Amino acid sequence: MDRADAKQRILELRGILEENSRRYYVDNAPTMSDQDFDFLMHELEALEAEYPEFVSADSPTQRVGSDLDTGFVKRAHRFPMLSLGNTYSISEIEDFAARADKALESGFTYCCELKFDGTAICLTYRNGRLVQALTRGDGVQGDDVTENVRHISNIPQKLHGDYPQEFEIRGEILMPYASFEALNAEREDIGEAPFANPRNAASGSLKLTDPDEVGRRGLWCTLYHIPAQSVPFDTHDEALTKAASWGLPVSDKRRLCHNIDEIKEYIDYWDGARADLPFATDGIVIKINELSAQRALGYTAKSPRWAVAYKFKAEQACTPLLSIDYQVGRTGAVTPVANLAPVQLGGTVVKRATLVNEDQIASLDIRIGDSVYVEKGGEIIPKITGVNLDLRPAGAVPVAFPERCPDCGTPLVKQEGEAKWFCPNRDACPTQIKGRIVHFIGRKAMNVQAGDATVDQLYEAGLVRTPADLYDISMYQLMSLEGWQEKASQRFLDSLRKTVEVPFERVLFALGIRFVGETTARDIARHFGSIDAIARAEKEQLLEVPEVGEVIAGSVYEYMRNEKHLAEIERLKAKGLQFTAKDSASALSGALEGKTIVISGNFSISRDAMKELIVAHGGKCASGVSGSTSFLLAGTKPGPEKLRKCEQLGIPVKNEEEFLAMLPVPVQPQQETELTLF
Ligand code: IVH
Repeated sequence: MDRADAKQRILELRGILEENSRRYYVDNAPTMSDQDFDFLMHELEALEAEYPEFVSADSPTQRVGSDLDTGFVKRAHRFPMLSLGNTYSISEIEDFAARADKALESGFTYCCELKFDGTAICLTYRNGRLVQALTRGDGVQGDDVTENVRHISNIPQKLHGDYPQEFEIRGEILMPYASFEALNAEREDIGEAPFANPRNAASGSLKLTDPDEVGRRGLWCTLYHIPAQSVPFDTHDEALTKAASWGLPVSDKRRLCHNIDEIKEYIDYWDGARADLPFATDGIVIKINELSAQRALGYTAKSPRWAVAYKFKAEQACTPLLSIDYQVGRTGAVTPVANLAPVQLGGTVVKRATLVNEDQIASLDIRIGDSVYVEKGGEIIPKITGVNLDLRPAGAVPVAFPERCPDCGTPLVKQEGEAKWFCPNRDACPTQIKGRIVHFIGRKAMNVQAGDATVDQLYEAGLVRTPADLYDISMYQLMSLEGWQEKASQRFLDSLRKTVEVPFERVLFALGIRFVGETTARDIARHFGSIDAIARAEKEQLLEVPEVGEVIAGSVYEYMRNEKHLAEIERLKAKGLQFTAKDSASALSGALEGKTIVISGNFSISRDAMKELIVAHGGKCASGVSGSTSFLLAGTKPGPEKLRKCEQLGIPVKNEEEFLAMLPVPVQPQQETELTLF
C-alpha cells in the first residue's frame, strides 16, 4: 500500500468506525459485531502507526467513543474516563507482560478480572452517601444519571465502615440475561423493537427519563476501579477489597496472578466458565496490581498502559439447520433466514439466524439438514458462519434460492453490483407496502401508537396502500373493523394527528428512502432545510452533505425523480406534516435559557416532543429532581416520588398551561384546519 492508498484507507476506516461507534453508543443498536469493529480499529491503529503524519486528534484511535445524550445534564469527570486497549491474541498479552517487565524495576503482580459487557458508570460517594453517578460520555464529561442509578437495587445509597470522606468508584451497569429476556419479550408484545443484546439494553435503560422504570428493568452493577488519585491504597486489589467492606458491589471473580502462565490459566478457565454466569462478559481485563507501578506506566490519550483487555472470540454453537424462510423487506430485498434446532448461545436460546444472501449460502455450501455453526456478534439475529461437514447427513438437500417473490410471486431480480435478490414489484407487493407503512409509523419515525398487526389489518381491509392513506381513515371506518372500539380508534387517530409535531428530519427518515437511516436523514434535513430543496438537489449537491457518499446520494436522487414519491410527499404535506426544518433549537427563543427542567407525567404532546420544545427554547432537560432543578413540569399523573422530592427541596412545580405561558410563540399544532379529514 502506498502513501496515498494508506491515506484513503485511513479516512475510510475512520468513517466506518465513527458511524458504528454512534450506532453502538448513541443509538444502542449496533449493526456490526464487536469483533469486526475491533478488527477495523486495529487496522486503523496499524496504519496510523506506519503513517504517523495522518494521525489527528479526532481519529477514533485517539478518542473514547461517546454515549452523550441530549436529555441529561452533562458534568465533567474529575479524572478522565478512559477505554482499554484490547486484543484477541494471547501473544499480545505476552507482549503486554513483557513490556511491563521491562519498564518496571521492582516486582509486581497482575490482577485479572472479568470484562463485564455493560455500560460504564462513575459513582461519587461523599460522607458515605451516593451523591453523583455519571456515564462515561465522551470520557471528559458524562451524562448525570444519578436519579436513575438510585433505582438500581445493588448500588448502596449509604456506605458503612471506614470509607474515605469522598471518593469515586467506577464500574459497569449490566442487565442480567433473565431481565434482558423478560424485557425483550415485553417489548415484542407491544410491537417495540427488541434490544440487540444485554449491553444495549443496559445502556438504553440507564438513559430512560423515568427513574421508576429504570428500577423495574432489573439492572445490576459491578464495580472494578477506584481512580488511584482518589484513595490512599498500595494496590488495586486492596482498594477493591476495601470497597467491598464498605458495602459496594465488587466482583469476587478476580484473581491475583504472578506470571503469564497464571494469566493464561485464568483466561482459559473463564472462556468456558463464563457460559454459566447470569450476565454477559466479553473478555478478561489484566491490570498491573501495584498502584505505584500503574503510576509509573501512565496513560495514552485513550487508555491506561497498565491494563489490557483480552477479548473472547464470538461465542459459537453447532446445531441442525431445519429450513430456510425467505423474508421480503420494505425495500424488496429478499433475505434468507435459517430456522435452527434451538440451541443455547451467549446466554439466550437461538432458533433463527441470518444467512445474508445467496452467495453466502453457496460459498459455505450450506444444505438443509446440515449441522451449522452459529455465532453471535452485536446483531440481534445471529449469523451462520460455517458447516460441520463431518456431521452432514446423507440426505442433506442443497438450498434452492427462490426465483419468485415468496409473497407476490413476481420474478426476483438482481441489480448490478448487488449481492441480494429483489422483488421489483414495489407498488403492489403486499409485504413491501406493509413494510413501508410499518417503517413510517415506527417509534423513531412518526411514532404512531400502532404495530405490525394494525398495519396488516388496515391493509387487508383495503384502507392503506401508502403512508398518506393513514390520514384518510375515518373513525367510522376504524370502528367497523374487528376489535376496534371507540377508545382504541380515538387513540389511533389522536396519535396520527400528533405526527404534525414530528420534526422534518424524522419525517424524512419515515419516508423510508433506501440507505437513509436516522442519522443520515438528520444530516440531509439540516443541510438542505426542506424537502423541496432536497428534491431539486443534483447528486453533487447531495454529496456535499457530510457522511453522504455515492450510494446514499444516488438513492436520494433516484427517489426524488419518481413521480409517485413526489405525489405521496405532496399528499403528506397537505396533511400538515413538517417538510421544512425548524431553525435549530435555541433559535426558537431563549425563554428557558439557564433553566434545568424535569418532566413527569403525560402532556398534550408526547414527552419526546415536550423535551424538544424545552431544548428549542434554550432550556435543559434532566432526568431527576435535584438541587439544580429549576422546576418540575408536571403533566397528568406525575411520578409521586418526583413531587415529593420537589416538596422536600422547595422546587416549584408547573403544569403544562403555566409552562406554555412562559414561551413566546404559540406551540399548539398549527395546521389544525387542514386536518379536517380526521
Ligand atoms: S478498568 C482506566 N475493568 O471495558 C481503565 N474496565 O473496553 C478503567 N470494563 O471502559 C477500566 N469490565 O467500561 C475495567 N473489569 C473491568 C472491566 C472494564 C468491563 C469496560 C469499561 C471500559 C471498557 C473498555
